[in-house]
Amino acid sequence: MGELEKIRVQVENCQKCGLCKTRTHAVPGEGSPNADIMFIGEGPGKNEDLHGTPFVGAAGKFLDVLLESIGLKRADVFITNVVKCRPPANRDPESNEKIACWPYLVEQIKLIKPKLIVTLGRHAMNIFLPGTKISEIHGQAKRYKGIWQEKQVYFAMYHPAVALYNGSYREILLEDMQKIHKVLEKLDSVE
Ligand code: URA
Ligand code: SF4
Repeated sequence: MGELEKIRVQVENCQKCGLCKTRTHAVPGEGSPNADIMFIGEGPGKNEDLHGTPFVGAAGKFLDVLLESIGLKRADVFITNVVKCRPPANRDPESNEKIACWPYLVEQIKLIKPKLIVTLGRHAMNIFLPGTKISEIHGQAKRYKGIWQEKQVYFAMYHPAVALYNGSYREILLEDMQKIHKVLEKLDSVE
């Protein structure tokens, strides 16, 4: 079993926070173990909880559109979340839940070693880029010293779910997505 598969099994059996009591399935994440890009959302919603797969509901359909818009498929990237189990009624994950789940995300990042981490929405952004505002930094690559690696490059995007309620965010998400290949080509010049 590969190391990522071991994390999957650990997550599926995890009881480190209270979300294990209300989940149907844990959602460890999926995609290529060699992905250049990792997309990190907030946490599973209803559909994800039912299927054990990230971003399969309406927001996920739009994430597929975003990926396709730059010639990528799910299998080319790795998609996961800050918390791996669904918060009841889609409430925000609590800080004790985020802290309990954090080691899984760190291990996934260490194994995949993505060139770029794309945060989807404020929750994932706040964890990696504390003190930033999404309205100010979305669509920009930032190099930030994470706790496990000196030179990780991040790219904050709005959460695809916001596009479902507001068409102008749809355009912003599509525009930001268009920048990703160029960011990857010019990683060394990101500050
Ligand atoms: N929203 C998220 O943040 N993650 C998912 O997996 C689905 C919806
Ligand atoms: Fe474990 Fe994370 Fe699920 Fe909590 S959310 S039970 S820490 S896998």
